[in-house]
Parts: sequence; structure tokens; C-alpha cells
Amino acid sequence: MRDGSSRVSDRPRLLPPNDPRQYDDLADEWWRPDGTFAMLHWLARARAALVPPAARPNALLVDLGCGAGLLAPHLAGRGYRHVGVDLTRSALAQAAQHGVTPVNGDATAVPLADGCADVVAAGELLEHVPDWRRAVAEACRLLRPGGLLVLDTLNDTALSRLIAVEIGERLPTVPRGIHDPRLFVDHRELVAECARHGVDLRVRGVRPGLVGTLAWLLRRMRSGGRPQPTPAGRAPRIRPTWSTAVLYQGWGVRRG
Ligand SMILES: C[S@@+](CC[C@H](N)C(=O)[O-])C[C@H]1O[C@@H](n2cnc3c(N)ncnc32)[C@H](O)[C@@H]1O
Repeated sequence: MRDGSSRVSDRPRLLPPNDPRQYDDLADEWWRPDGTFAMLHWLARARAALVPPAARPNALLVDLGCGAGLLAPHLAGRGYRHVGVDLTRSALAQAAQHGVTPVNGDATAVPLADGCADVVAAGELLEHVPDWRRAVAEACRLLRPGGLLVLDTLNDTALSRLIAVEIGERLPTVPRGIHDPRLFVDHRELVAECARHGVDLRVRGVRPGLVGTLAWLLRRMRSGGRPQPTPAGRAPRIRPTWSTAVLYQGWGVRRG
């Protein structure tokens, strides 16, 4: 197990930005809610809040770029079979331990049937995919008519590059080098692409709550950088905000 204070920059090998092998190097971090992937836990909770209980037996939720399955606990009791698609085998192995059916594959060529999914989730995925349009086409293809697409990603703006990369990757909530800002996704282009594939996507900006995040950072500083378990119910919340310029959620139903 990695020491809690270690950072991506401590890793033995230096990889290019967005290299998927970073997720292998960080495999021990996924399920430490106060570790390097802390913010993914906060975002998973907010994403799950967009998913209603399943409307029929055996409803299927396909989680594109599922990582280690952080969405799974937030969907408990909603009645979905949770299938996760990811490039990274080490992450999928952990997802499987959390009840996710793992599919090792690329979100731009998903080995699942057209219209199989009641819900497709793509959390913090598109900004990592060189051909995000292809991944969107696949997400929409997988949805049955009336099915729901939910996603969150980073916008292609100077502010996003500043906050998510220049500042964010220096904080303990985001691994350094995990993003390639050239892949960030313009929200208007995303809405247009979804519409082309039959999904009318609504978007809204989101951000971590300031008070909760400051309290979280303070707790970390006081513990000398070694993450302490966040007291129950006190993990920072992801809140809607007026601007989509940095982080945003999208949701929309596939037309019949
Ligand atoms: C930032 S993590 C998000 C993981 C998860 N959705 C979450 O929110 O906890 C991005 C994930 O996308 C995966 N990924 C990146 N490119 C991918 C692709 N083309 N196809 C499938 N998975 C991909 C990575 O392996 C990694 O697990």
C-alpha cells in the first residue's frame, strides 16, 4: 500500500499526461476516499443522484470508463445490473469486487449490443478520450429509446485548464499529470454531438462545495498530508454552480 502522503510525482516512472498506465500505478488509491482520487468519490455521489431507481426488472446501467467502480455504492438499492467498461484491467478487478460486471474494452468501441442499456454513465471519462465524439456515439448507441445518459467532464476553456490542471493537480484531490488539457470537451460541442445521436443533453456547471473542501484540505494539512478518514457525512459535496466553464454534468434521454 502506498504511503498516504505520496504523490504521483513520487512514482518511479514518469508517464506522459493522460497515459492510462497511470491508473495502474495509482491502483491502491481508488478506494481510499481521502486519497488521490478523493474528488472522484465526491463526483460519483453527485452523478448517482441523477440516476432514478430502475423502472423495470433487470435494468442495465453501463458505466463507461468505470475505473474501480466508485459509482457502485451510490447505486445500491436502485435496481440496476451495473456493467463497467474500462481500458484498465487493474481498475476493473477492483470494480468487480464492488459488484460491477467488468468488461475490458475501449469506450470508443464497446463490445455491447445496440440499445442494451437503460442508463449509460460516463463519469470523468470524455476528457481522457482522444476521440470523445466516438465515445459519445457509443454511449448513445448503447441506450435504448427512453434510456438516460449521465456524465460529467471538464470544459475546454482556459479557466478549466487553470483550475483543473495548473491548480487542481497541485492539490491532493487530483493526481498530477492525469489530464491532458488538449482533450477537454467544449460543452456546446458535446450537446450538439449528443443531439446528433438522439440524446437531448442538458448541462449544468458543478463544483465542490467551498466550505466542505476547505475543511477537508485543513484536515489533511493537520494530519501532515496523511489522509485521515473523513467523518461520516462530512465528505465535500458537489454543488450546482452558474458556470459550466470548468466542471459540468450532463444528462439527457434517448429519443425513441
Ligand atoms: C478519471 S477516471 C474515472 C473513473 C470513474 N468513472 C470514476 O469516476 O471514478 C477515468 C477512467 O477512464 C478510463 N479510460 C480512459 N480512456 C478510456 C477509454 N478510451 N475507454 C475506456 N476507458 C477509458 C481509465 O482507465 C480510468 O479508469
